[in-house]
Amino acid sequence: MQALFANPFHITDLQIFDNNTLHMLLADGSFGLTTEQLAHSLYNAPGPLVKRIQHALPPQQRSPFKQTYNHPLTAEEIADAQQEVLDRFFWELTYWKTPELYEELIEGEHLHPGIFQHLEEEIRGKSVLDVGAGSGRATLECLRYGARFLHAVEPSPGLRRILQRKLAHYQAEQQLSLSAGRFEALPQADQSIDTTLSCSAFTADPTQGGEAGLAEMKRVTRPGGKIVIIWPRSEDLAWLRERGFRHVVLPVREEMAIHFRSLNSALHCARRFYAHNQDVTRYILRKHRTDIPFSVIGNNPPRDYCWLEV
Ligand SMILES: C[S@@+](CC[C@H](N)C(=O)[O-])C[C@H]1O[C@@H](n2cnc3c(N)ncnc32)[C@H](O)[C@@H]1O
Repeated sequence: MQALFANPFHITDLQIFDNNTLHMLLADGSFGLTTEQLAHSLYNAPGPLVKRIQHALPPQQRSPFKQTYNHPLTAEEIADAQQEVLDRFFWELTYWKTPELYEELIEGEHLHPGIFQHLEEEIRGKSVLDVGAGSGRATLECLRYGARFLHAVEPSPGLRRILQRKLAHYQAEQQLSLSAGRFEALPQADQSIDTTLSCSAFTADPTQGGEAGLAEMKRVTRPGGKIVIIWPRSEDLAWLRERGFRHVVLPVREEMAIHFRSLNSALHCARRFYAHNQDVTRYILRKHRTDIPFSVIGNNPPRDYCWLEV
């Protein structure tokens, strides 16, 4: 089967995650890994990492993990298990381990400008929270659209550093805060936010929000305020509608595309992130273009959002 990503990570890279993130990655069934796959993947890993992983597992899995971990294995079994684990955690490893490369991928992935034009009333002069802010794609738009207090919450330290660098240019009248945090436990006080939004980060999956994350976003948003999910996954639309969200899709005049900074960057990102879709690399080589339509990539373009009044 064609690999989903050209995975550059090593099993020791799991050391980069903090304990909260490890707990979330290893929570029951979260990333679809079995205890056996996990134990096999760590066969030759450094002892302190194996201990941390064991502690981060749900209590009922710790002893099966330890028993499986001690079984002798062939090199092939270890390599297969490592591949599986690293592929499941590919995006989390990308956010934590190679944040600059993630930034390179998404810097040309522009949101439809109509999204923030539509949301201006919810942003201008308001207290706005961006959860899963990453390197600030939506955070910076909120600043441009006049948010009075802007709070960004992001778990990856590397992405927070990139966002911090960008925010340094914006210390005008607006008040900014950037914190470590996750959907499941937001650092904001009850009803302290007018508009809570999340761009390409909140999903129905409990590891990326889910019911607990939605409850947290409702807790911190004042009554009458809004929760906005920008660029939701299409498979989550029914879930969001069932919870009262309305879906807004912006019209486009011409097809939306990702604009890479150079041909080299386009090829490098295509080989790393779209390894499962050879058409992307073929398109770049054939057309010698740095802008790649979303239809070639096979993703829906960032031109929609869901909103809910609290
Ligand atoms: C696809 S990126 C989007 C980042 C940014 N909002 C943007 O539009 O570029 C997903 C982001 O969600 C963050 N994330 C993953 N799990 C999370 C969680 N449970 N709570 C909060 N953020 C999370 C990741 O660290 C990453 O920055």
